[in-house]
Amino acid sequence: MSILDDQYPKTVSLSDGTAVELRAMSADDKKAILKFAKSLPQEDLLFLSMDLTEPAVVEEWIKNIRDGVSISLVAYDGEELVGYANIHRNRAPWMHRVGEIRVNVAPHFRARGFGRVMISHIFDIAGSVSLKKLIAQMTTDQHGAQAVFRKLGFVPEALLADFVEDRNGMTRDLVMMTFDVDGLTDQAGAPVKL
Ligand SMILES: CC(C)(COP(=O)(O)OP(=O)(O)OC[C@H]1O[C@@H](n2cnc3c(N)ncnc32)[C@H](O)[C@@H]1OP(=O)(O)O)[C@@H](O)C(=O)NCCC(=O)NCCS
Repeated sequence: MSILDDQYPKTVSLSDGTAVELRAMSADDKKAILKFAKSLPQEDLLFLSMDLTEPAVVEEWIKNIRDGVSISLVAYDGEELVGYANIHRNRAPWMHRVGEIRVNVAPHFRARGFGRVMISHIFDIAGSVSLKKLIAQMTTDQHGAQAVFRKLGFVPEALLADFVEDRNGMTRDLVMMTFDVDGLTDQAGAPVKL
């Protein structure tokens, strides 16, 4: 039983007319997630914060969904999983209003407005579970992803040097972009511009 069960599955249409079904992710999606991750180009795998080609990592994600720590949508084009969007809530009490968004769209579905659709659904879900601030993290090399989130109203709030390591063991700088769900912020100054 998921808090998404009364709203999903739901069919959405992309601007080119392609119909995609959005579903609340569950243990039934494990095989499809592994297949999706294994089909991603090396370049994409390099930047994944979790190694989703590993069954144990996907099982951990499913456990997080069961525990209410993650809320996740998966998208299917027929039998094929073509994307996911996830909100991960921090377990620390003082961060319980903050959610990290992770979105991933199959390469052949990118630049067709699909990422925007997934993110807008995740925004609505974030609001419905009283999250106040959303975070999206990416490396400084991921220019496209930064552009997408900027267009959706996220602002770069922190740059963390040599903060993450890719699958080849190379360190990368991390950009933390944020979005205030209520449009409210208690920051004294403007966000850091990168
Ligand atoms: C980031 C990602 C989800 C975007 O999905 P997408 O389906 O390609 O995005 P959309 O087609 O909905 O584009 C959304 C907006 O960003 C713009 N955009 C998309 N890709 C862009 C790029 N590479 N550079 C600049 N702008 C871009 C689009 O023009 C669109 O703006 P518009 O609505 O004003 O036209 C997708 O590229 C992806 O899965 N990347 C790999 C995983 C990742 O980096 N995730 C982000 C970190 S969590």
